[in-house]
Amino acid sequence: MRYPLIISNWKANGSKTMIIDFIHKLQNNLNNNYACNIIIAPPIIYLDVIKQYLINKDIILGAQNVDIHISGSFTGEISANMLKDMGVLYTIIGHYERRIHHKENNEDIIKKFDILKKNHITPILCIGENKEEKIQNKTKTVCIQQINNIINTLGIEILKNSVIAYEPIWAIGSTSSANPNEVQTLHNFIRSYIAQQNIEIAETIHLLYGGSVNTNNAYELLRQKDIDGLLIGKASLDPKNLSEIIKITQKTKTRN
Ligand code: 13P
Repeated sequence: MRYPLIISNWKANGSKTMIIDFIHKLQNNLNNNYACNIIIAPPIIYLDVIKQYLINKDIILGAQNVDIHISGSFTGEISANMLKDMGVLYTIIGHYERRIHHKENNEDIIKKFDILKKNHITPILCIGENKEEKIQNKTKTVCIQQINNIINTLGIEILKNSVIAYEPIWAIGSTSSANPNEVQTLHNFIRSYIAQQNIEIAETIHLLYGGSVNTNNAYELLRQKDIDGLLIGKASLDPKNLSEIIKITQKTKTRN
């Protein structure tokens, strides 16, 4: 069984004061039996502040982005070996918000995937369709194209132990998540597609869901067999919500 992942993507939110309060409350709210890995991906400048207050060794550090270069004259960028140096084990790439606001393209995402793997950081590859593509029934095609973007350049083996997060663009920061049964069908389709190329690798991949996850819809999502965890934005900024979702994960996934 794949050990579930609960990932908190803070996006451009947080402050030193918020972090002290957040980490304190989160650690107080959790018991010792999570049945999942908890990954916090704050704005990179706050990684060290989080580390200072982390007592709980089961909370893992993540990042929201990485540069395509390893070092050199690239003002403003953070490289994979710097992330590794700071103890980051997971990094989000291909997020819709980076594609749209920072003009990241498929080529950038391939390079980021590759450089993370070379530095032993697990990529969290975001995929997903927009509203129009959903209406036109193109969800599967769009998602497979985004995965093939990686496979066709880097080979199927690169996907071993990776994380793919299905985040339909229309569900990000909206009022409702995708339908859990539809997500299950899609995830099953994606895993089968990868299994056709390499069955062992398909079993190692974590398929997460992201997009308006909250304490009300987490249970229905997590009880789906092929949803191996959640990538959460807004709701995870509140430590009470995040610990509640972790507890739901505990209940749901240990029962499977
Ligand atoms: P929300 O949970 O705020 O919809 O954000 C989802 C997301 O983009 C996580 O990466």
